[in-house]
Amino acid sequence: MQKLSRLLLPVLTVLAGVIASASPILRSDHIFRPVKAESGMVAGAEKLASRAALSVMQDGGNVVDAAVTMGFTLAVTLPRAGNIGGGGFMLIHDADSGESYALDYRETAPAGAFKNIFLDAEGNADASLSQDSPLAVGVPGTVAGLLAAHDRFGSKPLPELMAPAIKLAEEGFIIDANLAEMLVIARDNGRLKTNALQVFFKSDGGPYRAGEILVQRELADTLKRIAKDGLKGFYEGHVAEAIVQTLAENGGLMTLGDLAGYIPVWREPIRGKYKDFTILSMPPPSSGGIHLVQMLNLLENFPLSEWGQNSSQTTHIMAEVMKRAYADRSKHLGDTDFEAVPVAGLLSETYENQILARINSMSPTASTDIPPGSPPGKESDETTHFSIVDKAGNAVSNTYTLNFSFGSGIMAEGTGILLNNEMDDFSAKPGVPNAYGLIGGEKNAVEPGKRMLSSMSPTIVLNDDGLYFVTGSPGGSRIINTVLQVSLNIMEFDLNAAEATNFPRFHHQWMPDTLFVERGFASDTLTALRLLGYEVEISKTIGAAKTIIRQKDHLEGASDPRRLGSVVVGF
Ligand code: DON
Repeated sequence: MQKLSRLLLPVLTVLAGVIASASPILRSDHIFRPVKAESGMVAGAEKLASRAALSVMQDGGNVVDAAVTMGFTLAVTLPRAGNIGGGGFMLIHDADSGESYALDYRETAPAGAFKNIFLDAEGNADASLSQDSPLAVGVPGTVAGLLAAHDRFGSKPLPELMAPAIKLAEEGFIIDANLAEMLVIARDNGRLKTNALQVFFKSDGGPYRAGEILVQRELADTLKRIAKDGLKGFYEGHVAEAIVQTLAENGGLMTLGDLAGYIPVWREPIRGKYKDFTILSMPPPSSGGIHLVQMLNLLENFPLSEWGQNSSQTTHIMAEVMKRAYADRSKHLGDTDFEAVPVAGLLSETYENQILARINSMSPTASTDIPPGSPPGKESDETTHFSIVDKAGNAVSNTYTLNFSFGSGIMAEGTGILLNNEMDDFSAKPGVPNAYGLIGGEKNAVEPGKRMLSSMSPTIVLNDDGLYFVTGSPGGSRIINTVLQVSLNIMEFDLNAAEATNFPRFHHQWMPDTLFVERGFASDTLTALRLLGYEVEISKTIGAAKTIIRQKDHLEGASDPRRLGSVVVGF
């Protein structure tokens, strides 16, 4: 394989050393908690749900039991992203067999959806339809997904695992400053629609303040139905009828048949290697696993740790690799149950060498000069991630979402269920960016029953001893690059969980041709990158990783301080 290091500008090599030592490594003891190996750990976005999940393991439950509790409880305590009205992806590692399993519970397009559903009379993509109307709602997959994981791997009865969620919904929980603020923002920007406003605001319309208690009785009833009747408690009967009717009243087209017909799918994880590590991540309809492994394959050809973390040289090569991956995403990725996605081709050495030959080690290639490649072969502001490891070394890496914060903001009447606006992740029209600026092609066009392309990338990495680390992140299009950087920080730069999480990140997604960098980069690095020709923009924070590393004699975890409420708990 081609090594490009010898071609690099000497000046960049000098700068790399200076800049690597200038980049801050932040340590946050409150999120970095080493615990002994014979224990369990949860890294999540909210403390009540994380503690409930940990208690499940303390009471003898396994990692999937804990994930089921976490998934349902976050739907109560983190309403902006935790959900039963959305969908996601779960990656499970079984320590005994060494096997890993990918569970796809992504939403599907209703049977009545069609290719041009989001175009207006002039043929232009109308974001208000795909983001903010009943048509924005995909058939929810979360309940079916959590129950499928429980059926296959759970060891405790479902009602016991759902009890914390039901209690917190029924008796209420203390709202923190972050949730209080998010609710007001969601009301003021029109995201929360009437039913949701009635639940999340007081009877006089006033907001809950931090320290006050939020009760969600209707949601508690819905959760009880699921605990008692399983899938039927959500996908049939009262709840299903409420979802269909609420959407229909406003022009939606989801039917009872769509809900009754929803099925989660067990898929083969995407597998890759980086040095001695085995990477496991999510296959389509997520683009995350393929592009994570594609980027790692390319980056393995460069001496990144020699150049220094976040040095201008390392950042340049990584940005070039990111551009290629996101360009390929725009053309080649879609739901493999409907479209031929060249998975093996994208990850092949032949294709890797084609891309390497086009990367100029001394200057960025303009995104307009990077068309999506031709891999060989014809084969067929809100999400939340949690990582859980149990005492046996089993692991769950789960990312699920409503898409936007509070999703479509539509609450199914009388159920407490906030519904997603995931349909915006389809490509409304080829070449027109979605809410995350992502451009999609024909393979991600709307079709009945199809799953919209995702960037969610729950990831598990193994070493010779089995499980090494678990990670994942929210962040829309930035998810894949966040997971890439956290993973490299551990595998390549040898950082601990807190350092790997906190280190400043950057993001390039091909279009726009802009390098987004977090605050924390040294100014001379930015100058060097601008001199190379990059359009550099200081960005709001990128992603919010939740990571647990299994060291030889202890677990260490970090939950990203970039978002309030993040927490790691262990025993
Ligand atoms: O599936 C996806 O890629 C998006 N719907 C994820 C949205 C997201 O991460 C928003 N969060 N911050």
